[in-house]
Amino acid sequence: MEKIDLKSLENKVRKKIEKAESLKELDTIFKEVFGKDGEVKKISKIIPKLPKKQRKIFGEKFGKMKESLMEEFEKKAKELKEKAEKEVEEKEWIDITIPPPKAPIGHYHPITLARRKIEEIFQSMGFEVVEGPEIEDEWHNFDALNIPPDHPARDVLSLGKTFYLKSGGLMRSHTSSVQIRYMEKNSPPLRIIVPGRVFRLDAIDASHEIDFWQLEGLMVGKDISVANFKAIIEEFLKRFFEKEVKIRLRPSFFPFTEPSFEVDISCVLCNGKGCQVCKNSGWLECGGAGMVHPNVYKNCKLNPKEWQGFAFGFGMNRLVMLKYKIPDIRLFNSGDLRFLHQF
Ligand code: PHE
Repeated sequence: MEKIDLKSLENKVRKKIEKAESLKELDTIFKEVFGKDGEVKKISKIIPKLPKKQRKIFGEKFGKMKESLMEEFEKKAKELKEKAEKEVEEKEWIDITIPPPKAPIGHYHPITLARRKIEEIFQSMGFEVVEGPEIEDEWHNFDALNIPPDHPARDVLSLGKTFYLKSGGLMRSHTSSVQIRYMEKNSPPLRIIVPGRVFRLDAIDASHEIDFWQLEGLMVGKDISVANFKAIIEEFLKRFFEKEVKIRLRPSFFPFTEPSFEVDISCVLCNGKGCQVCKNSGWLECGGAGMVHPNVYKNCKLNPKEWQGFAFGFGMNRLVMLKYKIPDIRLFNSGDLRFLHQF
């Protein structure tokens, strides 16, 4: 009967367990010891062949050894499992305090920005912001504004460049149509502005667009005069450009105003000293204005003897171009992100 050295077997196994670096490795060792062809199995087979006396003592020792090795395996398995979990945890740890990458932010169109500013200024002076349809009829765009068919004024005002629609109607060529729409429904006293898109068949260049914005204004009451117009526009321009701006009125003609003016503003770029933009004149054209024509009141079923007031129509793109130093009107409708990102 060969001598079985349980002690050295145990030590050998313990050393192996100690050295195991992974659960898989430990599992292999376990099978070597407790598996089908393992050392423990081999010994178990020998035990019954031992003499009875020896069998009992050896059996007990063997049992203790198995138990203690089993414990050792379990202890090591627990250790390795914890180690593996910790490694995964470290590898997969997410720092939720790190800010995420920034999502690209959209930009407001400069027209929108200017429009909001303009509305805020006029609202603070008691004006209501009004809208009207971009598809109009002849009555609101022309006739009610005292522009009869075939009147040369249609050309003078570039209103002959109107887009007519096959389905009837037209694309409004100015926001003055909203003066009519508003006075048909509301009686004075009234103060409104109408920022809106208008359409004219023009050759497009750095200062002409076919699809652009106007800022219409209308103030009607018992005794509204040109002086009121001047004061309000000066206040508006000062707040819009954030500096003192002078205005100059030149006689002009519009069928829906009498008297009519061209409105010039002192150049906001050179402050009137003369530069490229104002062509050294110190003045910039801003739009048309005048005292509402009696026929316009009549067309809205209002009494011209009872009411008087002013109307104006400014080129909004132009105001925005001057405010942000935009050199070309075509940029507004270009959709060019390099342009839009600047606002
Ligand atoms: N509607 C005119 C234009 O488009 C501008 C204007 C508006 C003039 C109001 C006088 C009064 O040119």
